[in-house]
Amino acid sequence: MSSYIEKVRSVNEKREAPPLAHVHNYGCQLNVTDGEKLKGILLQMGYGFTELPEEADLVIFNTCAVRENAEERVFGNLGFLKQYKEKKRDMIICVSGCMTEQSVIVEKIKSSYKYVDIVFGTNAFDRFPQFVFEIMNGRKHFYDEQGPGNDLSEGIDQIRSSTFKASVPIMYGCNNFCTYCIVPYVRGRERSRSPEVIVDEVRKLVNDGYKEIMLLGQNVNSYGNDLNGDISFPELLRMINAIDGEFIVRFMSSHPKDAGKDLIDSITECEKVGNFLHLPVQSGSNSVLERMNRRYTAEKYLEIIEYARSKSDDFTFSTDILIGFPNETNEEFEDTLKIVEKARYSNIYSFIYSKRTGTKAALIEDAVPYSEKQERMQRLLELQRQITTEDYKKYIGKTLTVLCESEGKGGEGTLTGKSREFIIVNFCGDKSLIGSFVKVKITGARNWAVDGELV
Ligand code: SAH
Ligand code: SF4
Ligand code: F3S
Repeated sequence: MSSYIEKVRSVNEKREAPPLAHVHNYGCQLNVTDGEKLKGILLQMGYGFTELPEEADLVIFNTCAVRENAEERVFGNLGFLKQYKEKKRDMIICVSGCMTEQSVIVEKIKSSYKYVDIVFGTNAFDRFPQFVFEIMNGRKHFYDEQGPGNDLSEGIDQIRSSTFKASVPIMYGCNNFCTYCIVPYVRGRERSRSPEVIVDEVRKLVNDGYKEIMLLGQNVNSYGNDLNGDISFPELLRMINAIDGEFIVRFMSSHPKDAGKDLIDSITECEKVGNFLHLPVQSGSNSVLERMNRRYTAEKYLEIIEYARSKSDDFTFSTDILIGFPNETNEEFEDTLKIVEKARYSNIYSFIYSKRTGTKAALIEDAVPYSEKQERMQRLLELQRQITTEDYKKYIGKTLTVLCESEGKGGEGTLTGKSREFIIVNFCGDKSLIGSFVKVKITGARNWAVDGELV
């Protein structure tokens, strides 16, 4: 890779001013991490950065394929780029990320977005400098269609957007093939990074002052299954917890089918891990869960929550819910409301089902109208609003440790951050506190956050 980095760099160094690159990420935290790696490569190739695509000499749209609306945004924004490129003929337009792993998408770009120069997939970082070099030297297009390979893209220096929060992928890919989900097709099979490499990376981040380490994987609970040694996710968590320094460890996602007691035990034992678990349930109906190929039942799921709360009654959970899986009946949806009531999440992320071509669920004829799904979404959100309004009151009078993240909505003098329990906490204080841990005494509760005072 490096020879092409040098080649592009020497072209860029001949320009009067360094050329500018614009990278826009459309997806999850893993997608953002990929974007940070691409920025690292761009910097080595001699690019500076701009937030404005119209100012850029090279644009990367780093895409997400998980739902249709994410894809529509990409095509909408690509439309805008056309006018910029007409004014600036040598602008290089690249589309990367999960969408490009679908041949229908690449075909659509080839036929309707001919001004896109480079299309490359989730594992083509090492070849990206070559693509740029060839376009600079007169090649018309580069469409990389190798598919989601199996490398781990190690050794790329990221340009991180935060100085105190860092994501660290621990594994790539997914083997689960939930019937609605495109991720296994666009990200390939599970590959775990070596525990030593992960621990080294976290240690370095902590030494550089990072306060929150977010471990990423589509299902962190299957971490290590593909490594010969016997390392499991709870063991990795303990290794990371043993690193010296003041920091908090979070992770996502955790598939309920392999979330066992050992996971909960490791969370409660590790003082750097908050008593918090994001545990996507998707549905509370056993029939829907089976049609989704989730491989657990509502009862098994609730057992995990009960076990965690038997160990620590302040254990909090958040979840993902998929509304309107094909032919989900009203009764099946009511089962989702029931599990939400029982689990008492501190937060839910809910999505209306989006048909993904290539998945099994896409073959099912769906009789439920979209308006019905939207009504279900409203009912779910209303229920969750009642739960958080009630449950957040229990924090009043308590003092929480909060990582201060940014200025609050109230402007100067107001701050916001997240507690170890992943609750949003608003308080007043000086912005010099951003990026550090503070103690906040909670004085009030809203349905999406709590308010407090610095102690
Ligand atoms: N690996 C993670 C999920 C990653 S995708 C896990 O299993 O928990 C994040 C969320 O997007 C999923 O939890 C699901 O709720 C939602 N999602 C996935 N496919 C979807 C689709 N086709 N339509 C709507 N939402 C979807
Ligand atoms: Fe998608 Fe299921 Fe894999 Fe999560 S576990 S990425 S929902 S297939
Ligand atoms: Fe993430 Fe979207 Fe890809 S959620 S893994 S960027 S499909």
